[in-house]
Amino acid sequence: MTGEMMDAAYINHTGGAGDIEFGALPLPKVAGDTVLVRVGATAVNHVDTFVRSGRYATELAFPQALGRDLTGTVVQVAPGAADRFGPGDLVWSNSMGFGGRPGAAAAFAAVPVNRLYSLPGGADPVEAAAVLHAGATAWLALHRHAGVQPGETVFVGGAAGQVGSALVVQAVRAGAVVITSSSRDDAGYCRGLGAAAVLDYRSPALMAELADAVRAVSRGRGLDIHIETSGRHRLEAAVELLALRGRIIALSGMAAADPLPLGRLYTRDGSIRGFAISNATVEELADAARAVNELLAAGALRARRITRLPLREAAAAHAALEDGTARGKLVLIP
Ligand SMILES: NC(=O)c1ccc[n+]([C@@H]2O[C@H](COP(=O)([O-])OP(=O)(O)OC[C@H]3O[C@@H](n4cnc5c(N)ncnc54)[C@H](OP(=O)(O)O)[C@@H]3O)[C@@H](O)[C@H]2O)c1
Repeated sequence: MTGEMMDAAYINHTGGAGDIEFGALPLPKVAGDTVLVRVGATAVNHVDTFVRSGRYATELAFPQALGRDLTGTVVQVAPGAADRFGPGDLVWSNSMGFGGRPGAAAAFAAVPVNRLYSLPGGADPVEAAAVLHAGATAWLALHRHAGVQPGETVFVGGAAGQVGSALVVQAVRAGAVVITSSSRDDAGYCRGLGAAAVLDYRSPALMAELADAVRAVSRGRGLDIHIETSGRHRLEAAVELLALRGRIIALSGMAAADPLPLGRLYTRDGSIRGFAISNATVEELADAARAVNELLAAGALRARRITRLPLREAAAAHAALEDGTARGKLVLIP
């Protein structure tokens, strides 16, 4: 395949959505321990817009194909990966397009073998692509960083979103009792995911209602885990809700700068832990991948709505995600 070209959505410098080009890039070379994958679907995540704009600083190699997540089919395997994959295997990855790696928004991607996972039989590749990022993020947040335990009380803010819904599903499966915030219209959806109490994030009395819900659900013990996906953490009030050794996981709100009642936090052994999946090690990503595959095989991790677009629409997809007009999860099809 030497010298061949492929379609890709790429940038020559960081910038706006309009700086994304769609055109031909050289087909990646398979070497070392990489696996050449024909990309079947690639999702568009908020983090892809951060990489494209430069808001998330990472090593890029221009022309840089964008895109973190892919599902696809193995077409060629380097000798160093031959014991793991073979041509025709259905696979996925969720850590391409940053840290010096080429992106997933292309017809083909050469994926390091330790960042590639088998797609479980029966999982639809487009539907899977839509949930990989949120599913892995939620698993790492709950299990790696928050250490969720059965019986704990967990608040998920923005629970009808991609990450929020994955958090609810996985917290419930971990045996936690979950309180959510969402728009009023999404209350039924959150209940259907397993939430024990659902709150309207537009309510002027939201934090008082959350305090009531925490008291009722935890029988007065307090909140064990607080995860807000909307970027609006309200830490001053959230800290007051924490149980002894309660954990706040900060994973959204790139520009957030909340005042923190530190004395109230440390006197209950509370903690705040920042987490970005971009920093996950290959071992952590592999742990999350195993969990995501179990959820996919069980049909437990589903996007509520998927908008499929051709890869050439990558710039429009980024713009829609950034201006809030995207409907459901955007998945690009090369
Ligand atoms: N740290 C990490 O590793 C990591 C990984 C993935 C994502 N993230 C971040 O997590 C955030 C969510 O990502 P996503 O893909 O889940 O986005 P998303 O699907 O757009 O979900 C965001 C949710 O927040 C809700 N929301 C809006 N305003 C709210 C408010 N005032 N209070 C509570 N909820 C509100 C939205 O509800 P409506 O639909 O009603 O507007 C929506 O359901 C983004 O900031 C993203 O960058 C971080």
